[in-house]
Amino acid sequence: HNVVDKHVDNLISHPHVQQAASWINRDEPVAFPTETVYGLGANALSDKAVQKIFTAKGRPADNPLIVHISAVDNLAGVVDEIPAQARLLMAKFWPGPLTLVLPRGSQVCQSVTAGLDTVAVRMPAHPVALALIEACGKPLAAPSANLSGKPSPTRAEHVLHDLSGRIVGVLDGGETGVGLESTVVDVTGEVPLLLRPGGVTQSELEEVVGRVEIDPALSYHLDSVHNTAAFRPRSPGLKYKHYAPDGEVFLVSLAKGVKAMRRYIQECALRDREQGYSVAVLTTDDGKGFYVADLVISLGDRTRLERVAQRIYAALREADQAQIQRIYVESFPTAAVGEAIMNRLLKAAQGRMLEP
Ligand code: TXA
Ligand code: MG
Repeated sequence: HNVVDKHVDNLISHPHVQQAASWINRDEPVAFPTETVYGLGANALSDKAVQKIFTAKGRPADNPLIVHISAVDNLAGVVDEIPAQARLLMAKFWPGPLTLVLPRGSQVCQSVTAGLDTVAVRMPAHPVALALIEACGKPLAAPSANLSGKPSPTRAEHVLHDLSGRIVGVLDGGETGVGLESTVVDVTGEVPLLLRPGGVTQSELEEVVGRVEIDPALSYHLDSVHNTAAFRPRSPGLKYKHYAPDGEVFLVSLAKGVKAMRRYIQECALRDREQGYSVAVLTTDDGKGFYVADLVISLGDRTRLERVAQRIYAALREADQAQIQRIYVESFPTAAVGEAIMNRLLKAAQGRMLEP
């Protein structure tokens, strides 16, 4: 567990960054901070190293990884050709929380792409991540640094909680900024296809490349979509259980307004506690005084969705720490980053959306 202050000069030669780079160069995966969540990085050109990521996380082998670079030049061998729309998006959003799915280059190893003919790439906007990639001199394949299925880590302690004993180390750069994983866009077709909402929103993308379509697998009726035999998501990760704490999560709809939502949650909480369940509620500052439950967590100001996004995974983990059995979560409007927030919450709830 190596702490690195992201504000210091010359991070590349920082001893902790150098140590991490030497582990990676010996094919040992290391966890590191990015602006979205912590990643578990390994040399994207070494099959042996990448295999260790899958083992450490318990990740299904058919779920491909994102390759992280520190400069567009690093894409040589990872991606053979860069479509025009991809260039525009890179120029506008890199470094930043945008992952592009591109035709796969010849040097990326098979396990990174899980056998697909495309590869996902991004340039993270975090000085420690960029320094680490530079210090290794290699593109890094990195999924989020959590056990497969659990909420992504936004602090080094979350990484240690999940992976301690399974990886050689974590570079601790403090709390991450965005708090949710990057936006994933497939730019191999004529019209870009949004595969995972994130910090960069659909309308921000559309300002740069015109129309962007949304993968039908992102529909909010996940249950019915998943039950269709024809359901074959373009992003393999979509079909797995995700972001779920040990406690059962229930997302409660905002369709009848904030007041109705809160009354309904409080009724559920009372009923569950009478039946002997421990109950947590995830709310915002304005709702904190309203609830009686075993644990009430505020995600901040309801009107500041970016702060809410930053806190969600830590809150879900806090409920697990308190050994909560049922976690009721308030919904948010799906404007801007709210789209990504609701996407992750619905997955944590495994599609359970309760209507007051
Ligand atoms: O913010 C992030 O993206 C973080 C940080 C560490 O960079 N990484 C991350 O990685 O969230 P991971 O592995 O948890 O999620 C990668 C997602 C998965 O849903 C995966 O299926 C999708 O990207 N993906 C990777 N390669 C793909 C490809 N070639 N085509 C379609 N989807 C792909
Ligand atoms: Mg993940």
